[in-house]
Amino acid sequence: QDLPGKTAIVTGGASGIGLGIAKALLGAGMNVAIADIRDDHLAAGSAELAEVTGGKTDRILALKLDVTDRANYAQVVDAIEARFGRIHLLVNNAGVAVVGPTELATFADWDWVMGVNLGGTINGIVTVLPRILAHGEGGHIVNTASMSALVPAAATTIYSSGKAAVTSMMECMRPELESRGVICSAFCPGAVQSNIAEAGKTRPADLAETGYAEADKRRQAGGNFAHLYQTKEQVGQRVLEGILNDELYILTHSEFLLGVQERGEATTAAVQTHLPENPEYKATFAMLFRNPAI
Ligand code: NAI
Repeated sequence: QDLPGKTAIVTGGASGIGLGIAKALLGAGMNVAIADIRDDHLAAGSAELAEVTGGKTDRILALKLDVTDRANYAQVVDAIEARFGRIHLLVNNAGVAVVGPTELATFADWDWVMGVNLGGTINGIVTVLPRILAHGEGGHIVNTASMSALVPAAATTIYSSGKAAVTSMMECMRPELESRGVICSAFCPGAVQSNIAEAGKTRPADLAETGYAEADKRRQAGGNFAHLYQTKEQVGQRVLEGILNDELYILTHSEFLLGVQERGEATTAAVQTHLPENPEYKATFAMLFRNPAI
């Protein structure tokens, strides 16, 4: 990808990982639109972006967006196109989290997290992908998933299953769109310094009922391990590198290698190799995965 002069939209781009990605893309010469639900994040985020360009704001746009609102999404994308022209890179990054025992989760816990993390990503794909394909200059889509999509942990069911879904989305779309010049990547970071602990501030009133109020209080009192985490700038550069190298999986933390290996070994070991193989069936399956015509 030749990035300078091209245009990116980063959802949840005004804080944490999204801001780190936006800084890296801006540094690489792109026009960058950050789209975020929080006004205070938009103000602080655009100021931080302007530091990258030495105070110049001609390649920066900061727009209010709730990724769960489809009409709002289309308006924001229209506004980006009006300012910068064609969009080439979509980073579906806006995300929220709840963690705790699955049996305590309310419908509202599921609906809020899935609505933003999965639904917001779907809205990004449906709104932006046709526009990228229509201009024919090629492009790239990055879904911010999580290491929890690949190495799921107990009691992270809502979060991890949503992240697995947005990873799967990239795995399915990649062979479908590669030949049409659109590259898909799943970004699966481990822990990164961010403001995700404040995610509850953006939770809609009609989805307020949570089964985790007590668990959340205990977790917040449990200490801050942020200093152990990678910085948003580190992972932002890693995403830029992944885009430049057309990587399907953009991973960050070497600490999770064993977990990734264990999962691969467990699924490999579970394949029923003692059963007779039908070579035709095997070939068809390999083809299904790769064949963009299907
Ligand atoms: P963050 O809270 O610092 O940034 C997320 C941004 O998304 C915030 O500015 C927030 O206002 C915005 N946002 C929330 N709901 C929104 C909505 N409905 N519409 C538009 N914007 C919305 O958190 P962080 O950690 O930077 O999160 C970014 C992504 O990275 C998320 O998808 C998260 O699940 C993922 N992630 C984070 C990890 C971490 O350790 N921080 C690890 C792995 C993945």
